[in-house]
Amino acid sequence: MAQSSTLVPGLAGIPCAKSAIGFIDGSVGKLQYRGYPIEVLAEECAFEEVVFLLQRGELPSATELEEFRAEMIREREVSFRALDVFERLPERTHPMTALTIGVSTLGGYHEGDHVEDLELRRGIALRLVAKVPTLVAAWHRIRQGKRPVSPRADLGHAENFLYMLEGERPDPMAAHVAEVALVLHAEHSMNASTFAARVTGSTLADPYAVVSSAIGALSGRLHGGANERVLAMLRTIPDRSPEGVRRWAEDRLARRDKIMGFGHRVYKVKDPRANILQGLASGLFAKLGRTPIYDLAVELEGQMEKLVGHKGIYPNVDFYSGIVYEKLGIPVDLFTPVFAVSRVSGWLAHLLEQLEDNRIFRPSQVWVGESDRAFVALADR
Ligand code: ACO
Repeated sequence: MAQSSTLVPGLAGIPCAKSAIGFIDGSVGKLQYRGYPIEVLAEECAFEEVVFLLQRGELPSATELEEFRAEMIREREVSFRALDVFERLPERTHPMTALTIGVSTLGGYHEGDHVEDLELRRGIALRLVAKVPTLVAAWHRIRQGKRPVSPRADLGHAENFLYMLEGERPDPMAAHVAEVALVLHAEHSMNASTFAARVTGSTLADPYAVVSSAIGALSGRLHGGANERVLAMLRTIPDRSPEGVRRWAEDRLARRDKIMGFGHRVYKVKDPRANILQGLASGLFAKLGRTPIYDLAVELEGQMEKLVGHKGIYPNVDFYSGIVYEKLGIPVDLFTPVFAVSRVSGWLAHLLEQLEDNRIFRPSQVWVGESDRAFVALADR
């Protein structure tokens, strides 16, 4: 096959698969799942409905949704033997590392040939979405020396996740905000973690290995890990007046330091998910009381628009998500795992799509090393 010798760093703008799952038009801030605008899905749908849409291609009927939900609820439990692995980890293990270990451990129970069997594949896709919140919540409790809380069959996916973290049913507004956040993070076309999932899936590795690869890719601070850093970064701004915030941003930009929660490979306007999260944040703060960090974030957004808006650098999804999660009482190092609780649904939708017409990923490279060198024996070096 003819090979292109043109290197495109980060594969920016290079299509690597056909997909009908998530569509983005970054020039106008449009995001759709299976053709439905994100704004409508966030307003109208429970997370489980969105999982069905992503993985099966259509919105479910009422009966299909009821069955799908019931199946997800049955699959929430994680066996004690699998959770036992967490007891052996050092307490300081980052929850994303623990999640990879948890998902890989579930892989130990994998049976059958998911490549040949579509029903098995779909079943595992549902099972993993159902179990990831249980793993995240269990590690969070075990690391504090507490016993994991069993899932509750009478609660929706998002509400049950918050319940398993604290062992208490959350405030209805908190449950609603968490639900919308899960809907917003479920899918985002060919980002780094989804690409990682598709690459691993293309080798016909099992779905647990696929999700482990994707979790690793999501954990980095240029991807999902940015949400953890936004709050820490905001707290370093010494002078919160408009002039102080502007000076801080100017200094950082002059040093070419990235401002976390801003910029996106695809969006050149404000990320539509950041708009929705900001709306949720302002509702949450109106109800539960404002916090200076939210006002500071709004100020920074305004100053950044003046400074770098013309370069297409606007808030991305991570800018407001951390502020919202903190207000929900979620610890900072769980922000990226919360992202994974949602995105696992999209990763597995991509695995299902990849396996419909699979070809192993095997890109080429631009060779910059030496060739045909004369070997020098160890004694002569
Ligand atoms: N702060 C300051 N400058 C920025 C930022 C930012 N957050 N983002 C981009 N820029 C500037 C770069 O310095 C560069 O400027 P130059 O052309 O003068 O050299 C230009 O914009 C292009 O930036 P790249 O990093 O090359 O853009 P790329 O598409 O490769 O990266 C990325 C996108 C990784 C998201 C980047 O914007 C970034 O690092 N943002 C901060 C981290 C972050 O918030 N990540 C979360 C992304 S959303 C998600 O993954 C869920």
